Amino acid sequence: MLSCLGCPVLSRVLTTGASRAPVAVVATGASHTSVAASTASPPNYMTLVRYNSSTAQQETPKKTKFGPLADQDRIFTNLYGRHNWRLKGALRRGDWYKTKGILDKGVDWILNEIKVSGLRGRGGAGFPTGMKWGFMNKPSDGRPKYLVVNADEGEPGTCKDREIMRNDPHKLIEGCLVAGRAMGARAAYIYIRGEFYNESSNLQVAINEAYAAGLIGRNACGSGYDFDVFVMRGAGAYICGEETALIESIEGKQGKPRLKPPFPADVGKSETNKFSFLIFFFNTDVIQAIARLMEFYKHESCGQCTPCREGVDWMNKMMWRFVKGDAQSAEIDMIWEISKQIEGHTICALGDGAAWPVQGLICHFRPLMENRIADFKQKQQAHA
Ligand SMILES: Cc1cc2nc3c(=O)[nH]c(=O)nc-3n(C[C@H](O)[C@H](O)[C@H](O)COP(=O)(O)O)c2cc1C
Ligand code: SF4
Repeated sequence: MLSCLGCPVLSRVLTTGASRAPVAVVATGASHTSVAASTASPPNYMTLVRYNSSTAQQETPKKTKFGPLADQDRIFTNLYGRHNWRLKGALRRGDWYKTKGILDKGVDWILNEIKVSGLRGRGGAGFPTGMKWGFMNKPSDGRPKYLVVNADEGEPGTCKDREIMRNDPHKLIEGCLVAGRAMGARAAYIYIRGEFYNESSNLQVAINEAYAAGLIGRNACGSGYDFDVFVMRGAGAYICGEETALIESIEGKQGKPRLKPPFPADVGKSETNKFSFLIFFFNTDVIQAIARLMEFYKHESCGQCTPCREGVDWMNKMMWRFVKGDAQSAEIDMIWEISKQIEGHTICALGDGAAWPVQGLICHFRPLMENRIADFKQKQQAHA
């Protein structure tokens, strides 16, 4: 699992997506009980004292229920930033509650809890998290293991991880600790998108607080387990969200995806079921929206694969002509063919990600494209 990465520097797991690790913690340990910190405790560790609800200063949120998720099962309770995101506030919301107890239960217990919870990855493929963590839990070959958290969040229209890091960073840190323990990882590296200045700043403040309280670092939470957490800021390239490019970037190299297998967590996982959907206003020019997406993908292509480097550039140029209608109808079939030449012929899923919106446009809006072309021709003839 680790040697197959071909990297002597880092042996690691990639349990990516900032939203997943905290889920593990809360599902297993946190409750609605408010807790507070006392600093007068054994060296390097803090005592967690139960608040009774009347002493809690935070206003009790209005009771709500959306779908099957009851209020008491809610994991992230400060996503809107209405409460204090610092350690004091996090403790009141139930973070770091009995974390030592969870760690003491041992690796098998944690892994089983995650497996039976049904938790799945949020990075696109929906891979079962418990299984992924289990892949890391193999007999050690002597080299250290690291947990890598993917907080790059560059997918167009995606805004989830940033809210966690800005408003609930302690959940992420606690999640790192529990996930790290389950894999026998020595430290966590949280790779955060470069533009997320406030988020990385809040995260670093929270990490400092956790160190000062003895929650992470040496003898984390008094469990006897040593665990460090580092924040690593990227330079804003979308491709660095791809798991192997992310690792390259952490290692100080150019963020370019590696050929797989091997997979970072030794998982025979495929990203081909990666999908996303965007919701537009009814009056959005859908051809223009797809052209804008192509511009994004063209800009973010790392350039390693010819179909992606050249093909996405071609699609981008053609799409902007389709926006005006300055094209031939036959070119609709031509761009379809280009997208098919890209799909499935590249190192990473960015190529597929660029091909599919064009295919979707043609499947669902071909008449719109043809009308635009006809209108353009008509206007040209009228001006002639
Ligand atoms: C171009 C590209 C960008 C990606 N960006 C992200 C990202 O920002 N965040 C993320 O969690 N996964 C991203 N992924 C998916 C990762 O490669 C990886 O599959 C995922 O982080 C696994 O997380 P999971 O365990 O939650 O499924 C990206 C994939 C590709 C191909
Ligand atoms: S598909 Fe595009 S982004 Fe991915 S490795 Fe190939 S060139 Fe780079």
